[in-house]
Amino acid sequence: MPARRWWCPEPGSPWAAWSARSPRCRAVGIAGGGEKCGHLLSELDFDAAIDYKAENVEAALRERCPDGIDVYFDNVGGEVLDAALANLARNARVVICGAISQYNASNGFTGPSNYMSLLVNHASMTGFVVTDYADRYADGLQQMAEWLRSGKLVSREDIAEGLERFPDTLLRLYKGENTGKLVLKLAEEGE
Ligand SMILES: NC(=O)c1ccc[n+]([C@@H]2O[C@H](COP(=O)([O-])OP(=O)(O)OC[C@H]3O[C@@H](n4cnc5c(N)ncnc54)[C@H](OP(=O)(O)O)[C@@H]3O)[C@@H](O)[C@H]2O)c1
Repeated sequence: MPARRWWCPEPGSPWAAWSARSPRCRAVGIAGGGEKCGHLLSELDFDAAIDYKAENVEAALRERCPDGIDVYFDNVGGEVLDAALANLARNARVVICGAISQYNASNGFTGPSNYMSLLVNHASMTGFVVTDYADRYADGLQQMAEWLRSGKLVSREDIAEGLERFPDTLLRLYKGENTGKLVLKLAEEGE
């Protein structure tokens, strides 16, 4: 395996982004809008960014990942997932974490149409469910706290306050209005 390969996390995945910052990976992030793409490059240290609202994602991935994608971390599904599948490298791994583009679809969930790419590229697609690792949360928290303190992990939070703001705050996720992890604060610490 060459020293630097390609990895494409989606917006809002600081853990995936950090993993991609390993010297063995070249990280390409996909986000909606110039400001979020700028954030990926300037603050999160991605090697390249793609604005899925303004660019043809399939063509952009072909250009920015010319040897194909080795690991694709998917939070959105839909057309962006299809564009990634069209650009897989041989033996690629696709991690399905979420499909936010599909949650509010009125005509039912649309699955990937480019799935034959898994066959021709000897690739695999696997689900990732965070609760599967519940027995390791304490270790994970400790490790991530250490990385946050040392600056290895960068996490921006977008904080709304008050339980009464829950419905509006949830909708912000689907409108892409949050930059960083969206958090609803119910009370001050210790209250
Ligand atoms: N597997 C698990 O264990 C697990 C656990 C928690 C969450 N998840 C999943 O992880 C994903 C991220 O959730 P999160 O809560 O952390 O929020 P998040 O990463 O902040 O995701 C919200 C962002 O998704 C983007 N988005 C919204 N609608 C979209 C669409 N139609 N197409 C493409 N992108 C869209 C928006 O960014 P842009 O402005 O860039 O469009 C929005 O800011 C979700 O799919 C969620 O279901 C999985």
